[in-house]
Amino acid sequence: MSLYPLARPFAFALDAERAHRLTIDALRRMPAWRPPAFPASLRTTVAGLDFPSPVGLAAGFDKDAEVPEQMLGLGFGFVEVGTLTPQPQQGNPKPRLFRLRNDRAVINRMGFNNRGQAAAFQRLLGCTHLHGIIGINIGANKDSADRIADYVAGVRAMSPVARYLMINVSSPNTPGLRQLQDEGALKALLSAITEARPKNGPPVFLKVAPDLGEGEADQIVRIARQHRVDAIAVANTTVSRPPLRSKQGNQSGGLSGEPLKALALKALRDFRAASAGEIPLIGIGGIASADDAWERIRAGASLVQLYTAMVYEGPGIGRRIAAGLAERLQRGGFSHIAEAVGSGS
Ligand SMILES: Cc1cc2nc3c(=O)[nH]c(=O)nc-3n(C[C@H](O)[C@H](O)[C@H](O)COP(=O)(O)O)c2cc1C
Repeated sequence: MSLYPLARPFAFALDAERAHRLTIDALRRMPAWRPPAFPASLRTTVAGLDFPSPVGLAAGFDKDAEVPEQMLGLGFGFVEVGTLTPQPQQGNPKPRLFRLRNDRAVINRMGFNNRGQAAAFQRLLGCTHLHGIIGINIGANKDSADRIADYVAGVRAMSPVARYLMINVSSPNTPGLRQLQDEGALKALLSAITEARPKNGPPVFLKVAPDLGEGEADQIVRIARQHRVDAIAVANTTVSRPPLRSKQGNQSGGLSGEPLKALALKALRDFRAASAGEIPLIGIGGIASADDAWERIRAGASLVQLYTAMVYEGPGIGRRIAAGLAERLQRGGFSHIAEAVGSGS
């Protein structure tokens, strides 16, 4: 039985960012448990990496790579740390993180607060990497004069300790960052990254926004394939505002959780249609149950990630969804998760 329902009222009585800090501090003091043994049907190879379960923790929870192994131990098949920028930065003024309890959602405008890549590098060097995949999400500093140079620096600095790199061009909280998804800018960025990638370095993934216009998925897939991007993650938070019940719903920033679900699923379907299975996809946004994860896999995701549902359901959610997926595979007569990818599209 999960103890989280007992702890949640205490966590929710605190300001959201303070609760997050206390959670990370508590996790840091815990030994890194051995993760649960996942059913063999959940094992999957994506971009040459062997994932013990397709259910991962999305970027933003462990921005500074303080507890990746603890999170693997709690039952995520992979953990993405970051977003990490070359230089440390404070992020936006507080308050900048809001729980929308009645919507099972969060709005954040953190703005890439992090202690920089060099500090995280040292911590990641100490990881055993034995119990799952640790990926690193990289971004650009807000005040950088040359954002592309920041991504190149990130690729060079973090490749030695990353099992994969996630290029984040989709945070809404660094002004202008999302423009890197535009055709010319994306080509320039990915060309520079291709050049900087070390030989035998980690695979490179690209994380996109759910707020794309007509035809943009096709364009991004075409450019990503030309530049040998290994997977596309769909999606980051949305700047749109579906109808919300909570009074914090008018805060500015990126919306995640339940109200993002339909939009993120639609974006994933657009990317599946555009890529016809030629490039692996990672489904993210509003996933809170095994049914949600299963729907994303059947729509074409090889892997899934979540963050906001963990705030409401507790850290055992990765393990619970993995168990539910194994059941659905068995019921559907699939022997491996890869067979189910795109089976409903
Ligand atoms: C508080 C918070 C901080 C986040 N920070 C990052 C980040 O630094 N980099 C990033 O790529 N995504 C970040 N995200 C986005 C998540 O990784 C994810 O794409 C998004 O929240 C949708 O998934 P969810 O509905 O399961 O939360 C953040 C999300 C939240 C809620």
